[in-house]
Formats: sequence, C-alpha cells, structure tokens
Amino acid sequence: MSTTFQLDTATSRATPTPAPMKRLTVPRIRSRKVDGTTQTPLVMLTAYTARQAQLLDAHCDMLLVGDSLGQVIYGLPSTVPVTLEMMANHGAAVVRGSYHSVVVVDMPFGSYEASKEQAFTSAAFLLKETGAAAVKLEGGAAMAETAAFLNQRGIPVMGHIGLTPQAVNVLGGYMARGRSDNEAEKIVSDAKALDDAGVFAIVIEGVVEPIAVAATRAVACPTIGIGASAQCDGQVLVTDDMLGMFERVPRFVKKYDDIAGVIDKTVQTYAEEVRARIFPGQDQTYQPKP
Ligand code: KIV
Repeated sequence: MSTTFQLDTATSRATPTPAPMKRLTVPRIRSRKVDGTTQTPLVMLTAYTARQAQLLDAHCDMLLVGDSLGQVIYGLPSTVPVTLEMMANHGAAVVRGSYHSVVVVDMPFGSYEASKEQAFTSAAFLLKETGAAAVKLEGGAAMAETAAFLNQRGIPVMGHIGLTPQAVNVLGGYMARGRSDNEAEKIVSDAKALDDAGVFAIVIEGVVEPIAVAATRAVACPTIGIGASAQCDGQVLVTDDMLGMFERVPRFVKKYDDIAGVIDKTVQTYAEEVRARIFPGQDQTYQPKP
C-alpha cells in the first residue's frame, strides 16, 4: 500500500490517501504495563525497507530496524560489521513506510560502547537521519549509565539483554542464556539496572523461560521476548524468519508461512515462460495505436 496525495483545488490542500493512522508514541508503549501487568501484549517485528514497513505497520505496535539486517539483507556473518550509515538508511526507509508503529533503530556495534558521549552522538545522528522515535542498544548494567544519559537528553532507549548478538565473540555463539545461577542472577539484575536507568522497554533474547519471567516481574517497564517466554509483555521476531524466507532458523522462531517456497515456485514459472517465449504475452506488450 503506497500513499498518494489528492489535491483539493479549492483549498490547495494535499490530503494523503489512505489517511495516515496516528503514530503511537514511546510513552504510550511504556504505559501499556501498569502495576506489573500488560493486558494486551505488545507486538513488534523487524522491518528494513519501506515496503516491508507498509505491510507490517497496521498490525504492529513497534517496528524494529534491527541490526540483524547485517545477516538478513547484506549476507554478513554477524551483526558486528553493521555501520551507523546502514542503520540510518534503512531506518529512514522504514519511517517513510509507516504511519502507526513506533520505529526503533538499533545502535550498531562500536557506535555506543566507548562512552556515553559517543552514544549520544550516534543516537542523535540516527534520530535526525531517520525520524525514528527511539534507539535500542545491547547490554545490561554496563549500559545503564549510558541509557540514563540518553534518556535525560531526549533519546528514548530500549534495552536488550540475555543473548546479545553483538557480543557473539565474547559469548562464543548464539546459545540460550540463564542456565547457570550466575547467568540467571545477572540477567535479572541487568533488567533491573536498565529499568532504573529509565529505558522504556527491554528486549529479552534467548533466555530460559523462568529467568525471562523473573526479569519481567522484576521491572516496571515492558519486556519484549524473543526466544524467552509468552509471559513477557510483548514479543518480537525477525520478520524474514517468521515469514519463512530462510530454510534454517533458530529454534524459537515459528514459521508462519513459506515465502521462500512461494518465491522459488513463482520464479521457476517465470523462467519457464521466458524460455518458452510465453512471457511477455499480449497483455504485457505495447502495440502501435490504430
Ligand atoms: O537485530 C534484531 O533484529 C534484534 C531482534 C532480534 C531483537 O535485535
């Protein structure tokens, strides 16, 4: 669905069609959790392009321009090589393609860890370039001071704890977290530290269910689970994973369709028709006007 503008010649006013929905705000997302309970779970999906955003927007509360675009769009081996410029370009496209969801842009590895000042410069760049409402950064207690610094200066922050893919070189892989007592305690205390720092929501990724539930109960802000628990205050998935664009996906992904299969069959038909000179047919061919 793309937006067109109808000009009212009497007033010279351009009216967008379809009428844009009113965009949700970060405070409205935050206020969905009241006294530790979120009545209706928050819905978040990743989006990287304007068209994807158009298709997801009406169904979601938040669109995450995740740095998973490194693997999904660019075929990179991890999120580590993703740059601020990549995030800014895709973030701007997603904002252009959406009217309703809060758009959150991931801060890529290396753009925020050195100091809170570095984080502010990077986050301000992302918000200015994209028009998004918030940034997400990975890390718990170690990032709490940075999250508070950004929040106090007008930049809403979403936290991300548990399995933090940017730390793959320290973690040694993408295994579920929270299986040892030490790890479990750290995940809950990370959640509390971010909550105290004023983040508006926390992604809990790849965490054993009882610890994800404990972290959710320990914080006032909503938690967004991915490979965590249905008891989180919301859920997020990588859209391309849940649509079935990839043969192999993490265990926590539910494939809602087989879009890769649809593309494979459709392109096979196209190739056969081209080779048999069936396409283009009369309907797709221009003829001289009689
Ligand atoms: O980059 C991303 O897509 C993410 C989600 C998996 C939470 O951070």
